[in-house]
Amino acid sequence: MHARAVAVTATAVLGTAALMSPTSDARAGDTGEPTVIAHRGASAYAPENTLASIDKAAALGFHWVENDVQRTKDGSLVVIHDDSLKRTTNVEQVFPGRAPWKVKDFTAAEIARLDAGSWFSPAFAGTRVPTLAQYMRRVEHNHEKLLLEIKNPELYPGIEKQTMKLLDNEGWLDGRHRARLIVQSFSADSIRTVHRLEPAVTTAYLGRPSVGQLQGYADFTDLINPSYGKLTGAYVSTVHALDGPHGRPLGVFAWTVNDAATASKVAAYGVDGVITNKPDVVRAALNAAH
Ligand code: G3P
Ligand code: CA
Repeated sequence: MHARAVAVTATAVLGTAALMSPTSDARAGDTGEPTVIAHRGASAYAPENTLASIDKAAALGFHWVENDVQRTKDGSLVVIHDDSLKRTTNVEQVFPGRAPWKVKDFTAAEIARLDAGSWFSPAFAGTRVPTLAQYMRRVEHNHEKLLLEIKNPELYPGIEKQTMKLLDNEGWLDGRHRARLIVQSFSADSIRTVHRLEPAVTTAYLGRPSVGQLQGYADFTDLINPSYGKLTGAYVSTVHALDGPHGRPLGVFAWTVNDAATASKVAAYGVDGVITNKPDVVRAALNAAH
């Protein structure tokens, strides 16, 4: 049976509990199209990983956003992709003697001084690197759903526990919020840790394990999220045939798809989600193909 049919059957058996999971949400659209996830926010149109980028996603009508979480020198969680502040802030101007400007070498107060918008466009001058707490409050305010990536966890021992604690403090680990949350990482160890700490949280592994490895991953991750270039329809079907740690078929979100032709291609493979900097372009392609 196709995974989508399995999911429908499981929903009928399990009732609303299954409907309330992020992965069933990803399959529950009226159209049957993949969920579209705004990568680092709507990052083609606003500076990535900022409050402006998730406001833009919401303004365009998209519910799911993705981000990257790292840690400052003094232990604050912040939302930024690179392990250095150089590309997406004016850190070189503000702190010229501090090369290579690693996130982990700056305090939260220092990072709060940086402009994280001007590199993208003068229209976003003064945009800040958000703390994760600030970010979660804006996600909540915007009624959005979050694919949270624990980035470079090897640099930040204990970041999984700290992230879960912050999510709990912000009210994001109750049943209602968990249905709007997926935690992912390129590190299988990090995702194993998240699953051990908070078994009810939906998790995703970023990468493409071999077919032989998939059963092992299904012990701790609900989704397998590969780069689109590494996907085939057969691989997606193989992933869908396995049940994850919550007894639901494993899902697949493909990244980072920014053009219509690739969006149509991965949709035809049967992916459950498409992660994109241009959610409007992907949505239009999916609508056209349907
Ligand atoms: O969500 C997928 C994607 O974010 C993984 O790559 O480098 O953009 O974090 P990256
Ligand atoms: Ca990411």
